[in-house]
Amino acid sequence: MHERIVLLGGYGQLGNLIQETQPADIKLYAFNSTDFDICNLDQHKLVYKDLAPTTIINASAYTQVDQAETEQERAFEVNAHGPALLAEASPKDCRIIHLSTDFVFDGEKQTPYKPNDITAPVSIYGASKLAGEEKLSTLRPDSTIIRTAWLYSAESKNFMNTMLMLMAEREELAIVNDQFGTPTSAAGLAWSAVAFCS
Ligand SMILES: NC(=O)c1ccc[n+]([C@@H]2O[C@H](COP(=O)([O-])OP(=O)(O)OC[C@H]3O[C@@H](n4cnc5c(N)ncnc54)[C@H](OP(=O)(O)O)[C@@H]3O)[C@@H](O)[C@H]2O)c1
Repeated sequence: MHERIVLLGGYGQLGNLIQETQPADIKLYAFNSTDFDICNLDQHKLVYKDLAPTTIINASAYTQVDQAETEQERAFEVNAHGPALLAEASPKDCRIIHLSTDFVFDGEKQTPYKPNDITAPVSIYGASKLAGEEKLSTLRPDSTIIRTAWLYSAESKNFMNTMLMLMAEREELAIVNDQFGTPTSAAGLAWSAVAFCS
């Protein structure tokens, strides 16, 4: 049987790169938030009935980390309630790949985080993403949850591009030196996610 992937958040930084992988023998159906709002149960039902996906990749999210502090309700609606609807409405034999974040941790650990480390988000964004993980893990324990961090790619707004832009404009840069992360190639992650389905 041919793989059929429904991709939510298909036009975000990661979603666009997943589309660019153009996998052979896999039909990829990418949606933006207008055509498929993760918070709309009817749209979940309709799309899954029409397309009978073998995999759903959820690359959609409310990703405005600072704004989430004042838009708590919306952040939880998209990042927690949305994945719960996905889990409830999706076919039970359909694989679910869900993107999450290192923001589920408090960042105090001095060595790299491992999947079973204790979560302790310190932001609304992190708390909403953790709530989404918990909903999925409860409703669909067979889901695959990928916690990524510091995505970079050529086209989108990200830390790497901001630094390159500032370096082109200024002689000297003043950057905080107390934050540590693992810059992750969005293209590499896109290929890995799709390879997982084939
Ligand atoms: N970027 C990073 O550094 C980073 C780090 C750690 C984890 N992550 C996670 O990786 C995933 C992908 O991140 P990204 O950088 O590609 O994010 P992004 O560029 O902000 O894309 C997110 C996409 O989600 C869609 N979306 C928002 N609300 C939606 C809704 N209600 N229903 C359906 N779609 C909705 C948006 O679509 P519209 O444009 O149509 O609104 C947007 O294209 C997210 O789960 C994020 O939490 C990202």
